[in-house]
Amino acid sequence: MKKEVILTGDRPTGKLHIGHYVGSLINRVKLQDTNDYDMNIMIADTQALTDNARNPEKIRNSLLEVLLDYLAVGIDPKKSNIFIQSQIPELNELTMHYLNLVSLSRLERNPTVKNEIKERGFENSIPAGFLIYPVSQAADITAFKAELVPVGEDQLPMIEQTREIVRSFNSIYKTNILIEPKAIIPEGISARLPGIDGKSKMSKSLGNTIYLSDDEDTIRKKIMSMYTDPNHIRVEDPGNIEGNVVFTYLEIFCKDKILLNEMKEHYKRGGLGDVKIKKYLNEILQAELKPIRVRRNDFEKNKDYLYEILREGSLIARNIATNTLDEVRNAIGINYFN
Ligand code: TRP
Repeated sequence: MKKEVILTGDRPTGKLHIGHYVGSLINRVKLQDTNDYDMNIMIADTQALTDNARNPEKIRNSLLEVLLDYLAVGIDPKKSNIFIQSQIPELNELTMHYLNLVSLSRLERNPTVKNEIKERGFENSIPAGFLIYPVSQAADITAFKAELVPVGEDQLPMIEQTREIVRSFNSIYKTNILIEPKAIIPEGISARLPGIDGKSKMSKSLGNTIYLSDDEDTIRKKIMSMYTDPNHIRVEDPGNIEGNVVFTYLEIFCKDKILLNEMKEHYKRGGLGDVKIKKYLNEILQAELKPIRVRRNDFEKNKDYLYEILREGSLIARNIATNTLDEVRNAIGINYFN
C-alpha cells in the first residue's frame, strides 16, 4: 500500500532550540519510526531568503546547523528524506502557476504574513517575494503531494491557503492531480514552550532560548537565570507555579510525576527554594540534552557526509517535484512538445 506522504520543514535562520525539540522534532522522529509514512523534511532556504535577502550568509551557515540538529535528535536520512528547497527549481515554476490563482488581497489578509510583516517592520515596503511566500509554500506541499503537514499552529493559514490553491487549480484545470493537505498541530504545553525569561514563546530574536547545541555550562547558567515566581523571595514564602518557567519545563521533561507533584505542593506551601528546583531541572535537562549534543558533535566532524545526505535527498526530491510539475503543465496545457 502507498504510504501517506508527510512534508515538513524549517527555515534555516539559526540553530534549533528546545522549543523546536518538544514542539516538533520529537514528533517527527516518532512519525518517522512508525515506518507508516513517506516522510520528507525540507530545509526552506528559499523561504528564509524572502526576509533575509541581504543576509544570505546567515541562511547558508544555518543550513548545516539545522541538519546537525535533525540528525542529533534522531531524524534518520535513511528513513526521512531531507532536502534543500533551493535545489528544487521546479518549485519556482509551480509557484508561478499558482500565483495566478491567488489575489493580492487574499495574500495581504493571510494572518501569519500580516503578523510577520509587523514583526519585521516591513509595513512601508514589503518585499514582494515575502508577501507571496504562502504560495511558494503551497508549491512545496503540493509538489510532494503531501497529505499531512506537521507544523506549528502559526502555520495553519499556510495550509488553508494551500488548500484553496489546490481546489482552484483542480477545478479550473479539471483535474485531480493536486492533493489537499491537512495540518498536524502539536498539542499541550510543549506546543508553545515559553522562553527562559517567561515570555510566551522561546525564540532566537528574544534571546530566551536553550539551544540543542548549548554546552553543559551554558545550559546550567541559563537554567539558573530562569524566570520563576517574582514574589517568591524567601525560601519560606509560598510560591506560585503558574507561569513559573522551571515548573513548566519540569512538567515537560520530568518523568517522575509523583516526585514532581510533591515538589509542586511543597513550592506552593513554601519552604522549597528556587535554587533547588533549578538544580533539579538542570539535572533532568542535562541528561536529556547530553546524548543529543554528543551525537551532534560526532556528525559535525564529517562535513562530506552531511553534504552527501543533502545532495542525495535533494536529487530524490527533485525527481518527485519534476513529475508533479509535468502533470501541472499537462493540466494547464503548456506541455507543447510532448
Ligand atoms: N513556513 C514554515 C516555517 O516557517 C517552513 C516551511 C516552508 C514549511 N515550506 C514548508 C513547512 C512546507 C511545512 C511544509 O516553519
